Amino acid sequence: MSTTTATKNHSGTFAIGGDMTVNRLGFGAMRITGKGIWGEPEDKQESLRTLRRLPELDINFIDTADSYGPEVSELLIREALHPYRGMTIATKAGLARTGPDVWIPLGRPEYLLQEVKMSIRRLGVERLDLWQLHRIDPKVPQNEQFDAIKSMQAEGLIRHVGLSQVSVKEIEAAQKFFKVATVQNLYNLSDRSSEDVLDFCEKQKMGFIPWFPLAAGDLAKPGSRLEAIAKKHNTVPSQIALAWLLKRSPVMLPIPGTSKVKHLEENVAGANIKLSDAEFAELSELSKKK
Ligand SMILES: NC(=O)c1ccc[n+]([C@@H]2O[C@H](COP(=O)([O-])OP(=O)(O)OC[C@H]3O[C@@H](n4cnc5c(N)ncnc54)[C@H](OP(=O)(O)O)[C@@H]3O)[C@@H](O)[C@H]2O)c1
Repeated sequence: MSTTTATKNHSGTFAIGGDMTVNRLGFGAMRITGKGIWGEPEDKQESLRTLRRLPELDINFIDTADSYGPEVSELLIREALHPYRGMTIATKAGLARTGPDVWIPLGRPEYLLQEVKMSIRRLGVERLDLWQLHRIDPKVPQNEQFDAIKSMQAEGLIRHVGLSQVSVKEIEAAQKFFKVATVQNLYNLSDRSSEDVLDFCEKQKMGFIPWFPLAAGDLAKPGSRLEAIAKKHNTVPSQIALAWLLKRSPVMLPIPGTSKVKHLEENVAGANIKLSDAEFAELSELSKKK
């Protein structure tokens, strides 16, 4: 089955924090690192080409983190795209790395401050446009973490604040300290466990950044309804998963991750697929039953 590629991003726009407008289809920069999100990518030149293709495709929102590599993703973004010209680079901190595929929540205030300052240095900016707490550390009092973030925003190190992998209750607790501009949770056609968080974000006009957006799980197996809809649009199930996300909510900001130009172009094509209301309803029902 062949997937068409696109040369422009027609996903529409969203204003993060009410004043930072991005095209809704963004890019996840976790995959431009080594295996286990550790070290240098296998093909550094292709990772750089992928990043440099983003502005040509009208993708102006990149999601990264201090811990991707660690450092590797932020440094490649700087090498490829600095001084960014109209692009919004979102980063995160709050997870320590001790080896491939190892992620340890670490939310001590002095560590968060160090990591914010290191991201500023690595990305070569004066302040971070969107900084997200990667995880709330269960070993550190929640309010200490939120208070540290409030101080960093007051100091001008961070423009907008986001949270990641949180419940509605945790968002409300954070809102007592700062305005929550975005929430980044696992969400896709085959995992809708954050549906309540998405609905909350929509009501509050907060950006919702679904990670692992291309996954379609069992719904995509040969002979499935999802596969039939994909065939009709001359594409593959993962691209339909992306189109479904974009239609699901106006606050949805998917950030599919890839290290390859070809896959990036395919993902933009996915964002441009317009599902009919009937197709959307059918997919919503199928994924709800899972
Ligand atoms: N907040 C969090 O806790 C959290 C956790 C995980 C991820 N994230 C963020 O979310 C972003 C997206 O999540 P993700 O990367 O885990 O999942 P994803 O975007 O759903 O899938 C990425 C995977 O799909 C492959 N891929 C991408 N486009 C493809 C295409 N057109 N055809 C075939 N394969 C394709 C990529 O490999 P190739 O490189 O070979 O294309 C990669 O292995 C990450 O980059 C990161 O920024 C956040």
